[in-house]
Amino acid sequence: MLLALAALPALAQEGHGFTPAELERGGILYFSSCANCHGPDGDQIGGVNLAGNRFRRAQSDTDLIAIVRKGIPGTAMPPAAYTETEAALVVGYLRSMATSGKSRRISLTGDPARGQAVVEGKGKCLNCHTIGSRGSITGPNLTAIGAARRASELELALLDPSVDIRPDNRPVRAVAKDGTKITGTLMNQDTYSLQILDSNGKLRSLSKDTLREHEVMKISPMPSYKGQLSDQEIADVVSYLVSLKGAR
Ligand code: HEC
Ligand code: HEC
Repeated sequence: MLLALAALPALAQEGHGFTPAELERGGILYFSSCANCHGPDGDQIGGVNLAGNRFRRAQSDTDLIAIVRKGIPGTAMPPAAYTETEAALVVGYLRSMATSGKSRRISLTGDPARGQAVVEGKGKCLNCHTIGSRGSITGPNLTAIGAARRASELELALLDPSVDIRPDNRPVRAVAKDGTKITGTLMNQDTYSLQILDSNGKLRSLSKDTLREHEVMKISPMPSYKGQLSDQEIADVVSYLVSLKGAR
């Protein structure tokens, strides 16, 4: 595992000593259970700035770990079902956001034109996504993605596609009783049926009693580009995506 528990209090008190991999893990936890309320940069709740290194309700990392694990009773801040280690990693991530000003993961300045070349070339993004009038419809349409998401969310989508699958992008896999395999994106479901956009772009209603099995996948079909693209290329792709605001 990441940290020996016994080593924690010392590390946590110092507020540093985390390896990049541990901070990365803390960032993943942050994005999966905190960013929906606090925002990718930690400043979305009035009066609270998680990236500011100053807290109204906490002096030390130990206080912060307790807040993360217990929540703040009487407020909308919920407890997270984290071990002490996980809570410490999230706190380490908050501290690292503070040292770098903003979300630390976006440190490089990207170039949208180079990003476009990666998206259309070696990234093979158009094999699954539509941008403007080009591409494929297996994945969500990215034509206006820059108007809908922040840079830090887009970066996370590239590095850890499975962490933050949007409810409206949930991939489904089903097997009909005759063995036919069906994949697509879940649009809706009720007790008896699933409505999916299949991989050919057709809206289909599948009656559950005609299916041998079906599953809403927690793992994104999108590959992670971590290690596949350089940090600079990721920054370039992110700045290209940010520029996509829906113009054709
Ligand atoms: C459901 C929304 C929600 C989620 C999810 C959430 N928070 Fe909060 N958090 C809040 C609200 C609202 C407050 C402000 C509470 C108050 O002081 O009135 C808060 C306060 C805090 C504070 C205290 C800030 C200060 O200045 O003392 C910390 C630290 C914090 N949250 C960290 C986290 C972390 C880390 C996570 C993820 C593990 C998280 N929160 C998840 C809503 C949320
Ligand atoms: C094998 C198919 C596939 C490839 C290749 C692929 N994606 Fe995806 N992508 C998906 C699917 C499916 C989703 C929806 C599930 C999810 O969020 O992970 C998705 C989600 C996304 C999202 C999040 C969308 C949202 O609404 O927040 C972004 C951004 C994205 N992809 C960008 C890219 C970029 C840029 C590339 C190329 C570097 C790429 N994708 C390559 C299939 C793919």
